[in-house]
Parts: sequence; C-alpha cells; structure tokens
Amino acid sequence: IRRGFSSSIIKNGVIKNVTIIGGGQMGAGIAQVAASTGHTVTLVDTSEDILKKSRKGIEGSLKRVVKKKFADKPEAGEEFIQNVLQNVSISTDAGASVQAADLLLEAIVENLKVKQDLFALPPVSLNTSSLPITDIAGSTSRLDRFGGLHFFNPVPMMKLVEVVGTSTTSQETFDSLLNFSKALGKTPVSCKDTPGFIVNRLLVPYMMEALRLHERGHGSKEDIDIAMKLGAGYPMGPFELCDYVGLDTVKFIIDGWSAKDPHNPLFASSELLNKLVAEGKYGKKTGEGFYKYK
Ligand code: CAA
Ligand code: NAD
Repeated sequence: IRRGFSSSIIKNGVIKNVTIIGGGQMGAGIAQVAASTGHTVTLVDTSEDILKKSRKGIEGSLKRVVKKKFADKPEAGEEFIQNVLQNVSISTDAGASVQAADLLLEAIVENLKVKQDLFALPPVSLNTSSLPITDIAGSTSRLDRFGGLHFFNPVPMMKLVEVVGTSTTSQETFDSLLNFSKALGKTPVSCKDTPGFIVNRLLVPYMMEALRLHERGHGSKEDIDIAMKLGAGYPMGPFELCDYVGLDTVKFIIDGWSAKDPHNPLFASSELLNKLVAEGKYGKKTGEGFYKYK
C-alpha cells in the first residue's frame, strides 16, 4: 500500500485521487471542494451512518453553491451537483482506500493519540488545527511525503489554505500540496510547523479572551458578538465563531497548547467552555453551544 500510494505523487507531482479520512464538517467540506474541482475523492469514516450524513451535508452545501453559481440555469446546476456527487465515494476501510490515492488527507478529531494511531497508515497531509505536524508524523516512516494542509470552516466558502512544511517535508511534497491547494481554487500561504500556524495562533487566543472577558462579567456574549461584528467588521462574533468551529475543537486546541506552555496567559482555559463541552454542547454541530440552533 505504502509504495503504490507514495510513488504516484512522486511520478506525477499532480494530485488527482484523494482519500480523506474523517467525514465530519471539515472532511466533508474538503471532499466537496476537491470533487467540485474534478478530483476523485474517497471519504472514509468509522460508520456508514456517519458517511451518509457526510454525503447529505455535501449535497446540502452544493445546493447552496449552485443557487448562486447557476442562478439562471437550474438544470445545469442540478447536473453539476450530480457530477460532483459521482466523484465522491465513501468507505469505512481506510487501508483499502489509500491504495489508489495520490494524497491521503486526514481530518479526524483534534487528538494527538488518535491521529498518531491513524498514521500507522501511509500519510501525506493533515488538517490539524493546533497540533505540531511533526508530532503526528512521528508514527510514519515517510517523513519526506508528509506535510500539513490546513483548511478553514466552511471549506466551500473560505479561500485560504495553510500549507505546512516540516523540517523533513521534501520540496516536491510541499510543491504538490501548494499546487493541489491552487487546483481547489484556494489561495495557499506557506507556514512553519508552529502552534496554530498563522490563523489559529491569532484567532484562538482572541476567541478565548472573549470568553474570559465575558466570564469576568465585562460583557454579555450577545454584546461581545455584536461589538466585534459591527466594530471590527468580523462576519461572526467570537461566541458565534466558537459554536461554528465546535467547542470540543476549541477546547482540544487550547488544552493542548496550555499543556505545553502552562504559564502562557494566552493559553489559559475557560470554565464556561469546559462546562459546555462536559455537557456535550459542542455548538452548531450538536444543536447547542453558547447559543441554541434549530
Ligand atoms: N456551503 C455552501 N455555501 C455556503 C455555506 C456552506 N457551508 N455557508 C455559507 N454559504 C454561502 C451561501 O451562498 C449562503 O447563502 P444561503 O444561506 O442563501 O445559502 C451565503 O454564503 C451566506 O451565508 P449566511 O447567510 O449563512 O451567512 P454569512 O453571510 O455570515 O456567511 C460565513 C457565512 C461565510 C460562514 C461567514 O459568516 C463567515 O465568514 N464566518 C466566519 C468563518 C470563519 O472565520 N471561519 C474560520 C474558522 S477557524 C477555522 O476554520 C480553523 C480551525 O482550525 C478551527
Ligand atoms: P468533526 O467532529 O466534525 O469530524 C471528525 C470526524 O472524524 C467524525 O466524523 C469522526 O467519526 C471521524 N473520526 C474520528 N476518528 C476516526 C478514525 N480513526 N478514522 C476515521 N474517522 C474518524 O470535526 P471537524 O470539525 O471536521 O474537525 C476535524 C479536524 O479538522 C480536527 O483536527 C480539527 O481541529 C480540524 N479543523 C477544524 C476546523 C473547524 O472549524 N471545525 C477548521 C480547520 C481544521
């Protein structure tokens, strides 16, 4: 498996077949964009039920894209949706799914151990929000083929991809990842393998400070959200954004950083965040977080 998968990248330098492990909000979004730009995608998760939900999510998002893109041509829009869906197959067998892949992209939970276990498989790229790429790469023998591709939620809308090279990522792999990002219609930026890369290193401390500001009694969450939207031009306030990203993910990120650098006040935790996560209120994806949905 390892040889077949890796050599296709080296031979062609062009990524056509993509296997994505993790069909949650990020994995499904990346699958949608890759399939929409002519790539063949295999989406892998732990159960058929989850994968059916992923497909439904992709279809729903495609409908929104098409409503704008094919506003005057609904039939062409429907054809586009069907073509894109045909490019996505689903599987619960990660091992078998990587055989024909030029790129294996991981988008599972933000948990180092779970990610490391997965990368007993031959890896190339991953979508971690906060974990050092090098730590995850520890469990693979193909360090030259390993790098980071960090997408943003919602993937169909957000134009950025952070491409992360480690000290062992080969130039060829890095260039393939840059070119793949461009082929998806995204704008790549090059990042070092530092905590949070660029965006999350700035965004997550900002979101956490909003939570702490609220906990100090210095503003309601509604007022803080309104203030940042109308006063700073952000499309969402920090509480809305936490709910959108997923409170479990935000907690994984901040706890991970705090464990490594416990005295950094930027990485201090939030009781409110911990409480909501303990109650299973992860935000939009579970129907409730700081706000209620549905
Ligand atoms: N799929 C397809 N189209 C979508 C979409 C999706 N998931 N979400 C929004 N759209 C499009 C649709 O055309 C939609 O119109 P309809 O509702 O009629 O379909 C249009 O955008 C407008 O959407 P909304 O009315 O819902 O709201 P909006 O104008 O506020 O746009 C948004 C939504 C693009 C998400 C915007 O609010 C935004 O940019 N929010 C900030 C997102 C952000 O900061 N993301 C980064 C998070 S951090 C991260 O991802 C990194 C990490 O590791 C944690
Ligand atoms: P999610 O909870 O929506 O999806 C994670 C999926 O991974 C689930 O469907 C789960 O069943 C699956 N999974 C878990 N372990 C698995 C395994 N061993 N094999 C196969 N599938 C497995 O999470 P998400 O928001 O899509 O985030 C996924 C990754 O992307 C995380 O590392 C996160 O930090 C990162 N990320 C998230 C955002 C965001 O805004 N949510 C943005 C960028 C990057």
